Amino acid sequence: MPEYDDIDLRELFTAFTINGLALRNRFIMPGMQRGWCQEGRPGPQLADYYRERSAGEVALIITEACAVDHPSATQGPYYGWMRPDTTDAWRKCVAAAHDGGARMFVQLWHEGAIRKEGGSGPYAQHPTLSPSGYLRPGLRNGRAATTQELKEIREAYVRSALLAREVGADGIEVHAAHGYLLDQFLWAGTNVREDGYGGADIRNRVRFPAEIVASLRAALGRDFPISFRFSQWKEIDFTAKVAQNPDELRAMISALRAAGVDMFHVSTRRFHVPEWAGSDLGLAGWVKSMTDAAVCAVGSVGLGADIMESAEGTRAVEHQLAFGLGELQRRFARGDFDLVCVGRSHISDPAWVRKVRERRYSEIRLFKREHLERPGRDNTPHVAPAFVEARKAEALRDARAREAPPASPSAQAPPG
Ligand SMILES: Cc1cc2nc3c(=O)[nH]c(=O)nc-3n(C[C@H](O)[C@H](O)[C@H](O)COP(=O)(O)O)c2cc1C
Repeated sequence: MPEYDDIDLRELFTAFTINGLALRNRFIMPGMQRGWCQEGRPGPQLADYYRERSAGEVALIITEACAVDHPSATQGPYYGWMRPDTTDAWRKCVAAAHDGGARMFVQLWHEGAIRKEGGSGPYAQHPTLSPSGYLRPGLRNGRAATTQELKEIREAYVRSALLAREVGADGIEVHAAHGYLLDQFLWAGTNVREDGYGGADIRNRVRFPAEIVASLRAALGRDFPISFRFSQWKEIDFTAKVAQNPDELRAMISALRAAGVDMFHVSTRRFHVPEWAGSDLGLAGWVKSMTDAAVCAVGSVGLGADIMESAEGTRAVEHQLAFGLGELQRRFARGDFDLVCVGRSHISDPAWVRKVRERRYSEIRLFKREHLERPGRDNTPHVAPAFVEARKAEALRDARAREAPPASPSAQAPPG
């Protein structure tokens, strides 16, 4: 296959250390909720799934998003929770990941305004809480959390993180991406608080996420790795920006690093798309230029359709492996990031990392949307109906924009 002749990924197969934790290579499997838990408890299916991916040589597996130990975190029964009554089940998942030689981080998550308000589930009586009661500007769900409730949510993060360490996890990841609670704090569009935690200045909007990180650091000690995952894009607004410019990004990253973050996990839909005009740096590259913490990139490595196009079915996936690996090599060699996540391709092919290492490119199993189907495990009744509708509408708007002829051709446009 001549298109792979110039690809040399050996540097991506060198070891790396995050706050003292040794990783065998630079590949990570990101958090991906599969809908296989029962009341927050994973069963053998999830443990086996992690074991198989670990055996496929990925260095670090981040668990699917686990709700923190607070009744406002989620109403979804099929996703993970990190609570005292779920630890035995999660311990088996961590052990399974360790079996194949991978490390494991537990991802801690809270839906904020995305959570359904009311209903008939066990937590239905508890209010849906967020910075200001907005899913996005003008779209309301639930209400603003009081200062006391913020304190309780922060304590829930700490409790769940301590449980994650107790079940054997090698680190934790704070999920502050894609429009969930902590992202609702970071985004000016959903955070209009006037108590020093919100408003136009990103230094105020980052305060609550940074306080959570500082509390986690104080509780977990200096040596326990903490990753912070954030994104500009939201599931209901693909073009949103938490940081409008590099100065805002730097202010946010500095506050989080000072609070104790060891790794920034920079979530983009396509890792190779430039973040701001005038440079071909992706968002991860910008973050890397601003911090001494580890930086992980993610987004459509080797795939032609991105995560939201796959989730909403607006575009069929095709392989763009040679392009993706070529960009990975180029950007990694330039120092844009230390680590890279491969998500959907790990769903379709547990041995993706090994096959790439062995250059068995033609044997890689392509991800297809059918791999996401979860008969009887639909969580949409447990999130705000307005969220489900807005997400679909955004995917359609994005698909139409893609089909419209571009105003002027861009040298940086990804293929396809
Ligand atoms: C089925 C599925 C579930 C996901 N669940 C989560 C999650 O729990 N937490 C999270 O931060 N991201 C989640 N994501 C996003 C992925 O972590 C990743 O950022 C995304 O799939 C892009 O990587 P890829 O292009 O390599 O697939 C999920 C993605 C998929 C496909």
